[in-house]
Amino acid sequence: MSKTFLEAAVEIAREAGAILREELTQPPDIAYKAEFDLVTQADRRSEKLIVDRLQNYFPEHAIAAEEGTGKESASEFRWHVDPLDGTTNFAHAYPFFCVSMALARKNELLLGVIYNPIADELFSAARGEGATLNGKRIHCSKNPTLGKSLLCTGFPNHKRLANPNIHYYWDFTLKSHGVRRDGSAALDLAFVACGRFDGFWEFGLKPWDTAAGVVLVEEAGGKITDLEGKPYIPGGASILATNALIHPEMQHIAAEIAERKATLG
Ligand code: IPD
Ligand code: CA
Ligand code: CA
Repeated sequence: MSKTFLEAAVEIAREAGAILREELTQPPDIAYKAEFDLVTQADRRSEKLIVDRLQNYFPEHAIAAEEGTGKESASEFRWHVDPLDGTTNFAHAYPFFCVSMALARKNELLLGVIYNPIADELFSAARGEGATLNGKRIHCSKNPTLGKSLLCTGFPNHKRLANPNIHYYWDFTLKSHGVRRDGSAALDLAFVACGRFDGFWEFGLKPWDTAAGVVLVEEAGGKITDLEGKPYIPGGASILATNALIHPEMQHIAAEIAERKATLG
């Protein structure tokens, strides 16, 4: 095996992205996992390529892939794969989606790659080596205040009624330059890493949505916790990713919202 883990991930993410680009030119083939939770032929084709190629390069590694075709193994290495993050966008030909891949060793995230095949933007990061966009070093923004920040969030595909995010959306919208809802958590995190967004939060994301983006943001100088300020665990209840500077302000407001919600019931 002459390729490094990162080189392999970059190569595979680009190939999977080419599949997504090609599938976008075809009429969408949509099925439903739940009422608003879509899956397309593009998700399945991309996942098949990624899982096949990872198994070929690293036969002993475990793979957790969103559409369920990964595999368990006793290896301490585990890939977190989202073959198409932004399926709803894809299904509507809204050109904002990506391939997201991360590698963890035990509980430590080692690397992350996020590829937007429409913009041809490849974000990658390896622990301790910084983050890049198309080979150039990237950094989180230097914006020190929430009032001058551009934020992003997302809403889940399922159990929307039980999700508290609308309260957070309301408050953060009033206290910042605005809140975008772009529909791909992985790209949202990549945009925090390269300074396009100053902060991002969401509830209920899965490890394949966030693992790559977490490495990117941390390697770009940003900060990741949950909304209460506790260490973020992939698959945890919430995530807060910022340029580090506005983190205390966002956390403080999140605490106020949670308290208000608890009082109102
Ligand atoms: C979704 C996207 C979206 C987020 C949802 C995710 P999918 O992933 O990341 O931005 O708001 O919670 O489920 O289903 O397109 O891979
Ligand atoms: Ca996803
Ligand atoms: Ca997906």
